[in-house]
Formats: sequence, C-alpha cells, structure tokens
Amino acid sequence: MRGRSVRSLTTVEDVRQAARRRLPRMVFDFIDGGAEDETTVRANREGFADLALKPAVLSGARTRDLSTTVAGQRLSLPVLLSPAGLLRLAHREGELGAARAAARAGTVFTLSTGSSYTIEEVAAAADGPTWFQLYLWRDRAVVSDLVERARVSGYGALVLTVDVPVVGQRERDLRNGMTLPPRPTPRNVLDVLRRPDWLRGYLGGPALTFANFTDIGRGDSATALGAFVNREMTDPAQSWDDLAWLREQWRGPLLIKGIVSGADARHAVDLGVDGVIVSNHGGRQLDGMVGAIGALAEVVDAVGGDADVVLDGGVRRGTDVAKALAIGARAVMVGRPYVYGLGAGGGTGALRVLDILRDELDRCLALMGCGGVGDLDRSHLATPVGARS
Ligand SMILES: Cc1cc2nc3c(=O)[nH]c(=O)nc-3n(C[C@H](O)[C@H](O)[C@H](O)COP(=O)(O)O)c2cc1C
Repeated sequence: MRGRSVRSLTTVEDVRQAARRRLPRMVFDFIDGGAEDETTVRANREGFADLALKPAVLSGARTRDLSTTVAGQRLSLPVLLSPAGLLRLAHREGELGAARAAARAGTVFTLSTGSSYTIEEVAAAADGPTWFQLYLWRDRAVVSDLVERARVSGYGALVLTVDVPVVGQRERDLRNGMTLPPRPTPRNVLDVLRRPDWLRGYLGGPALTFANFTDIGRGDSATALGAFVNREMTDPAQSWDDLAWLREQWRGPLLIKGIVSGADARHAVDLGVDGVIVSNHGGRQLDGMVGAIGALAEVVDAVGGDADVVLDGGVRRGTDVAKALAIGARAVMVGRPYVYGLGAGGGTGALRVLDILRDELDRCLALMGCGGVGDLDRSHLATPVGARS
C-alpha cells in the first residue's frame, strides 16, 4: 500500500486486513497466529471486553498529557513496540522501519534477538530510544556476547524474555510449511506469486536470516541457521540464577517479559529488575494460559510500586490502553498491531498504528474526564479487579 492509503486506515483491525491482503498467507499467519487452539490469543482480547470503563464527568482538560516514564525512559505515548523476530518477512524495511516509526511517535522500539537486521544496523538507523530483547541461550557465552553488542551499540535497556523454555507449537505455521527451516508447498508458491508487491520487496533485499548470528559458525544459509537457533536459543533449564547472573552482567535498566503471577513478579523485583512485562507472548507459547490483562492486577499488587509494570498482549484500541493503565500498568506494549502496520505499508504503516492508538487513547481520556494518563486508576473501572478493589 502507498503511504497515503495506509494513512487513511481508521482502526488497527483495518490495518490488519490491509496486511492480510498484501502478505502471502504463510507470512500473515506467522504474524497473526498463536499456539495450538489459540485460546490464549482470544483470552487476551476477551479480558479487555470483560472490563468496563467508568467515566467521571465535568472534570476533563482541553488537552491531555499522554506521556509517561518506563524504567527511566520518558515516552510521549504509553505504548511501546514489543520485540518480534524476522520482521523483514512483513516488509523489506523490517526492524529499521519499525524503529523509525517508534522514534517518530516518541516511544521505544524493542529489537528481538531473532531480528532480520543486526543489532548494529538497527542502532545506526534508529533515531529514537531502542531496547534489546534477550533469550537465555543454552550457551550463556552467546548471551554475554549479545549483551556486550547491545551495550556498545547504545541500547537503553534489556528485556529478558522468560516464557520460551521451549518453542510453542504454532499450528498455522506447521500447516502452511512456515517452519524453520521453511518448507514451501505448491500451494504456498502460488499464493506468494499472487502477492507481487510483497515478493518484489522480499526478493529485492538480502537473504532473510537471523541476522545477529550469521557469524557463529553454523553456515549462513537461512535453513541451517533456523535449525540452529531453534535448538540453541531456548533452554528449558533456565532458572532464577540466570536472572541474577544477567543482573550482574548489565547495570542498565533490565525488564523481565513473560510474567503472569504475582509471586514470579515479586521474585524478579527482589532480584533487581526495573520493570515487569505481564505477557503470555501474545498467546504464541503456552495455550490455555491466563490472558495478559487478566493477570495484570495480581502483578501490580505484588510489585507494589517497586518496579514499573507493563502490559503486553491483545491491545488493539486506545480504550484497551486506558484499561491497563487504570489497573496500574505504566504503559502497554504492542506486537502484532505494528507488525500488521509493517505488512500493510512498511514503517509508514507501523507509524499509522501508533497514531491510531494515540488518537483513540486521547479521545478516551477526554471522554473519561481525565487530564492525562496519570489520572487513571481503578476508580475508572466498573469491574472490580485485584485484591485491593
Ligand atoms: C511475529 C511475532 C514475532 C515475535 N517474536 C518475538 C521475539 O522474538 N521475542 C519475544 O520476546 N517476543 C516475540 N513475540 C511476542 C511479542 O513480543 C509480544 O509479546 C506479543 O506480540 C504481544 O501480543 P500482541 O501481538 O497481541 O500485541 C513475537 C510476536 C509476533 C507476533
């Protein structure tokens, strides 16, 4: 889609549909899908629908302040970009387009370990704050090396993802042959040929790969690397000792991503994290687990203000952002929404998604009688949440 037509899209769902039209099905499903029956993908959305807002009247402001701070980082919008791997699948601009979109919106782009441009390339292209997401690789020397590269390149915070002890089973990907290594089927080939705009961009760039790891000695074909990363990137024996170890390695802001219980959140805070990201990986890991927004109040209450809590998963509307902030999150993260934006129209599409969410949140705050995001609290919810309600 050209820039102007992306900018005319009204909702995140419109952007999703535009991405669905432009992308081959195997790519769209890789982005859109979740684990197994996708129960948790739905729970992430249903949790928001189950919460009702309760506005106050005659108490608003002419302009609303949407700014906040997360782990010491000032943001002009309480919506950060979650880490998502292989973004060049969605658009040739990939992570570079997403990082520029975040900068223009005044927020943070979080680069995935499994990115399709390198740590250094994204740092060079980004003109705003960037964070780096880590997995606990089996070989902890790889983790140390990534931490050092992130430090040298100027990433402002590390995000340790802890909900991938093994890789979840995304069955759309299996059916579509979208495994790593990829297994194209005759049906995929035809479908891809019907998406010439996407195909031109895809073939016009460098070969798609986990760009950060082409030099660690497993050959540089995408297939060999994919198999390597799947085997090495996760560790079912990862433990709290690893978090303590990482805290020693990295003195800057550290956030933990993939927490849904108050006890785990407290443990992480006691080990010195600066932020807790309440997340189930967008329903892409353990299916049947609690929806992210449903887990938020317990985590906020357990953390008790000792670290910043961020909600990640299922956010598609400005009202969703308001609900998470009312429960006690400092901000939210979005994954699929900006990836749909990339798929629909590159960095311009990703920026369109952030603009939509900003407009919707601003209108929501005005309708709620709030002067800014800092005014939101649990009194703005008609539905009781958490032990303190
Ligand atoms: C295509 C895709 C790739 C992802 N890759 C990663 C990743 O490499 N590391 C990670 O921590 N989370 C990854 N995630 C999960 C996101 O960071 C985030 O938790 C999730 O998308 C939030 O849910 P939402 O998509 O409903 O906003 C990925 C998500 C998607 C959609």
